[in-house]
Amino acid sequence: MRKIIIAIDGYSSSGKSTMARDLASRIGYVYVDSGAMYRAVTLYALRNGMIKEGQLDAAALVKALPDVEIAFNAAGEDGRQHTLLNGEDVEKEIRSMEVSGMVSPVAAVPEVRHRLTDLQRSFGRERGIVMDGRDIGSTVFPDAEMKVFVDASPEVRADRRCKELAEKGEPTDYAAVLANIKERDYIDTHRKESPLVKADDAHLLDNDHMTIPEQMSWLLDLYQKISNGSN
Ligand code: DC
Repeated sequence: MRKIIIAIDGYSSSGKSTMARDLASRIGYVYVDSGAMYRAVTLYALRNGMIKEGQLDAAALVKALPDVEIAFNAAGEDGRQHTLLNGEDVEKEIRSMEVSGMVSPVAAVPEVRHRLTDLQRSFGRERGIVMDGRDIGSTVFPDAEMKVFVDASPEVRADRRCKELAEKGEPTDYAAVLANIKERDYIDTHRKESPLVKADDAHLLDNDHMTIPEQMSWLLDLYQKISNGSN
């Protein structure tokens, strides 16, 4: 079977990452979480005083970009790849509400996007990759053989995000999580540089009322059809 590129895009907390990771492990592909890369750059900006009182100093961040190195290590004990920021494992830190609250403005900086897009393309050179994000099918890999656009209502996504945070023992506030999701949707879909859009040739997956196994069989079905050349 030929190796392909699978791009999974969609809104925040739509379950993209979980489904992309599971799909990659089912079909023996490499999984790349592109959102983690934007989160790691955001953590760098927070730690280096480039975000003060919610305001990003984009010029300072752009200047520092050559010093920001992002990579993924091999899967650890939890079976997941962890994100590395200048060699440090920051997988936990990049999931905090503080980072979630500032990641969209960071991801709207064109220089940040260009740098991360180049890095993402380098991961896909050999194909055999599942990457999830916002602009993977539209900008990073417009030639991806399989494109999926995941949609779910903000309320369902906020509910899922709260459960995820609660499982990690982090404080959850449904109203704040919902507001953050709506705000990120707005910024992600309205930014100038590669906004979140469904690529014309992407397959829509509306997962409001789908279970995780149902999603997986939908994805595997599509993957089989595409990699056998029948779609
Ligand atoms: O998927 P996520 O919630 O971890 O992504 C974090 C943020 O990064 C999200 O608000 C938008 C941004 N992002 C992006 O602009 N482009 C991508 N390819 C992936 C994420």
